[in-house]
Amino acid sequence: MPSLFGRGGASSIRQTVIDFPIVAKKNEPYKVAHAILLFVIALAIPFLGLAQNSPAPPDEQAVRQRVDALLKQMTLEEKIGQLTLLFDFPQSKTAIDEEVSNGEIGSLLFVTDPAEINRLQHLAVEKTRLHIPLIFGFDVIHGFRTIFPVPIAMAASWDPAAVTTAQSIAAREARSVGIDWAFAPMLDIARDPRWGRIVEGAGEDPFLGSAIAVAQVRGFQGDYIGAPEHLLACVKHFAGYGAAEGGRDYDASYIPESQMYNVYLPPFKAAVNTGAGSVMSAYMDLNDVPATANRWLLNEVLREQWHFTGFVVSDANSVKSLQAHHYAKDLSDAALLAFKAGANMEMAIDFSAYQRHLAALVKNGKITEQQIEAADRPILEMKIRLGLFEHPYNDEARSEEILASPEHREAARFAATRTAVLLRNEGNLLPLRKSDYANVAVIGPLADSKMDILGPWVFQYDLKESVTVLTGLRNKLGTQTNLNYAPGVQISRKFPSFFDDILHLKPEEPWSSDQAKQEMSKAVDLANSSDLAILVLGEAQNMIGEAASRESLDLPGRQEQLLEAVVATGKPVVLVLMNGRPLNIKWATEHVSAILEAWYPGTQGGNAIADLLLGDAVPGGKLPMTWPRDVGQIPINYGHNTTQEPENQGKRYWDEQSTPLYPFGYGLSYSTFQYSDLKLSHTRLKPGETVDVSVDVENTGGSAADEVVQLYIHQQYGSASRPVRELKGFQRITLQAHAKTRVHMSLGRDELTYWSSADRSWVTESATFDVWVGGNSNASLHANFIVSQGGQ
Ligand code: NOJ
Repeated sequence: MPSLFGRGGASSIRQTVIDFPIVAKKNEPYKVAHAILLFVIALAIPFLGLAQNSPAPPDEQAVRQRVDALLKQMTLEEKIGQLTLLFDFPQSKTAIDEEVSNGEIGSLLFVTDPAEINRLQHLAVEKTRLHIPLIFGFDVIHGFRTIFPVPIAMAASWDPAAVTTAQSIAAREARSVGIDWAFAPMLDIARDPRWGRIVEGAGEDPFLGSAIAVAQVRGFQGDYIGAPEHLLACVKHFAGYGAAEGGRDYDASYIPESQMYNVYLPPFKAAVNTGAGSVMSAYMDLNDVPATANRWLLNEVLREQWHFTGFVVSDANSVKSLQAHHYAKDLSDAALLAFKAGANMEMAIDFSAYQRHLAALVKNGKITEQQIEAADRPILEMKIRLGLFEHPYNDEARSEEILASPEHREAARFAATRTAVLLRNEGNLLPLRKSDYANVAVIGPLADSKMDILGPWVFQYDLKESVTVLTGLRNKLGTQTNLNYAPGVQISRKFPSFFDDILHLKPEEPWSSDQAKQEMSKAVDLANSSDLAILVLGEAQNMIGEAASRESLDLPGRQEQLLEAVVATGKPVVLVLMNGRPLNIKWATEHVSAILEAWYPGTQGGNAIADLLLGDAVPGGKLPMTWPRDVGQIPINYGHNTTQEPENQGKRYWDEQSTPLYPFGYGLSYSTFQYSDLKLSHTRLKPGETVDVSVDVENTGGSAADEVVQLYIHQQYGSASRPVRELKGFQRITLQAHAKTRVHMSLGRDELTYWSSADRSWVTESATFDVWVGGNSNASLHANFIVSQGGQ
């Protein structure tokens, strides 16, 4: 597990780059097949160049000297150029070309064509005085050409090794076309599912969020910045964006200091300790100071407390927006405020405040040239570390080969089987036995959509490669099963998404009301004439992500009516959810036998879902966030404080229970697990000492399956009230049918320390601590220990 409080730096990443999650054992044909496949990939890695034993990272002193030598020769304008990142698309080609050739731009984003990247890089390297290469950034969020499950899904795998694998493949593909810098991972803790960007993060919990953050940074960057076929990570959005008021995207966040330190900042801290080389500021105001000009965040926390030595880039246009926030007087003031707060580089869509105003600010004494150089230093260092001076160009032919890699598609399929969460399985309807169902109805607007299965934040996908649920089921069931499809309803946003323009997606022609009625009846008739209905419902991919917040969590459009009508046929129903946030499935939870949360599972999603439904893979994912019963319960998260009144007594709400529909950490399996014999190595310890927590876990069902063993604690008293439960350890394990294992986890200083709002400092206090271990945040197996100065 990551150390949340330990020191670290770029050199602290020392882990095998590709850590394939080979969990398959013995008698499970599907998993054995995957294990063999992954083993073959691992053997092929040296030849693929995927995880070669790369040369050691460059000598730090040599890098510094090289930067010094460059800075000595650079003009002020060239220095400012390195602080400027521009979008390629809205500018005219000639303007960009000219600026690149003059050294007025140090980086570009949203250029993805390898030939175009090479063309622009030639301009930078050959035309500029000092031959400084560009760095190309891009939103490589959950894959590049091969699309993996969305980040919230990857977090639901509770499998950091799988996360590292996915992001290293994304890095390999992106780097092959010449992208050197991923605007990921997004580490915003999100506790409000109305916020569309919840899909881009790891959910509500700082401990899980930190583990997933570390895994992603390792996947993107490899062993060190500049490792072959890896790229520079950019952790975002620093910080507090996930707490946007009302879940409304871009709105201000108000977060008390204790919540910042204990909840919102830990994943960033863990990523910085793992060596993340860059950080992106956030759009919104944090406690009335815009994050992009927030000195406390960018200087005090990031640099002074955490010793971050990389660079900070603003979010797109967020320097210019300091005026819109009524924080900066004008554009020059915006540049000054962001720069002085610690934003090294400005990401500008069309109009750079740094480019226009920094030189004048130096000339009139508001900023010194030394400060400009200090901002340049980590940017130039990263370019050197990434090897851009030696290898500025991509190999276009090789890139084709890498992007077409069948191994990447297999890894995506495997990842999608690990991320699904089984929410309900009454009467063990799942896994389906092929022979039981000669006629199967597949219903729903998302069941055969090649685009929606990919989820948001995808740009370089190839729709020909997308496998829908319908196709996945066809592949699996073959011709013996009579499989038919009806969409039943259409879904669309009330207000369009700007991503539709970027992706050139045209909205579907809306059905007339007669047609809508007919389509609904067709779907219900189909269910009636089948032995089983598989409904695929949720949100279209443009209904989630940036600028995709909602005030309701209901299934969009008439999906609920469709679901209820299909259930009314009396046929067995499986509901597959495709979404990136908890939705209102209260009715479904009472009336539908089986519900599988598939998220947006990516390129190979349809095959993976078929694997899961037919039992060739066993669901083992767990929810990375609390699932509310209704939108009115928001915010609801398991790690809340306790109060004098017990929960669920009509004292929180009189019209609804105060508990969630599904708790954090929840997820079923086709098997069952029994926990017993919880033991602590000590029942008394001194602050700073470690206690080993161990428990027996037995697979009591009839099939091999995975379980995520979770450890929660509660500090009973102290200088501040502590959450009723906090996750402090987890392990995803695979157990054969009837096998038993002993799982060990430890609690030490990191896990028992928190930021006390009373003391305004980190404290490890003498107190009694509860411990629970189990398969979700309601785990009941309990023990406790005492921390006291006297110790044993
Ligand atoms: C704005 C988003 O907030 C950020 O996450 C993204 O990386 C940039 N745009 C660049 O696309």
